[in-house]
Amino acid sequence: MSSQDKPFTVLFGRKEIAAVVSRLAAEIGRDYYNKHPILVAVLKGSFIFLADLIRLLDLPLEVEFVRLSSYGRGKESSGKVKVVQGLSAEVRGRHVLVIEDIVDTGLTTNFLLDYLRKKKPASVKLCSLTDKPSHRKLPVTIDYLGFTVPDRFLVGYGLDYDEKFRHLPDICFIKEEQ
Ligand code: PRP
Repeated sequence: MSSQDKPFTVLFGRKEIAAVVSRLAAEIGRDYYNKHPILVAVLKGSFIFLADLIRLLDLPLEVEFVRLSSYGRGKESSGKVKVVQGLSAEVRGRHVLVIEDIVDTGLTTNFLLDYLRKKKPASVKLCSLTDKPSHRKLPVTIDYLGFTVPDRFLVGYGLDYDEKFRHLPDICFIKEEQ
């Protein structure tokens, strides 16, 4: 298949992603070196980003997963956030760093930050690989941000369309239908 036949176009290639993940790891490593954080990764989209990020973090840390869902099968957010799988670890008094692949409307992140703050952690911060501010419905402060992205539907590096394309090593956008 030639690149013209592929249904997506590369927005950020793997080398650019690796450089950004290194930059984020340096920032996080500097801020959390003596804090023994719990990284709370939001499934499914963050799994590749998390895996690359934590292997660059030379500090004691723990990893937890939550699974939230705001999108059905398709491109549009349903607008309702559901907890599909909650936290299993105690986060009271701990430094929590949320790991997201994308902040879009902000509904998921706001919901999750509220959910976490009710558990009385010592701190909660947010690291997101990408930020798509064009559809924001609720304000979100992203403490560690990789890329600001345009208003295109993105796939790859964990991001999906209808559960497909998460495995692509680059961040791509789907070409408009002809
Ligand atoms: C995506 C992404 C975020 C959320 C952001 O998850 O991983 O969690 O949407 O969107 P929002 O800012 O509009 O709330 P999704 O529900 O698509 O699930 P997935 O990670 O399993 O693909």
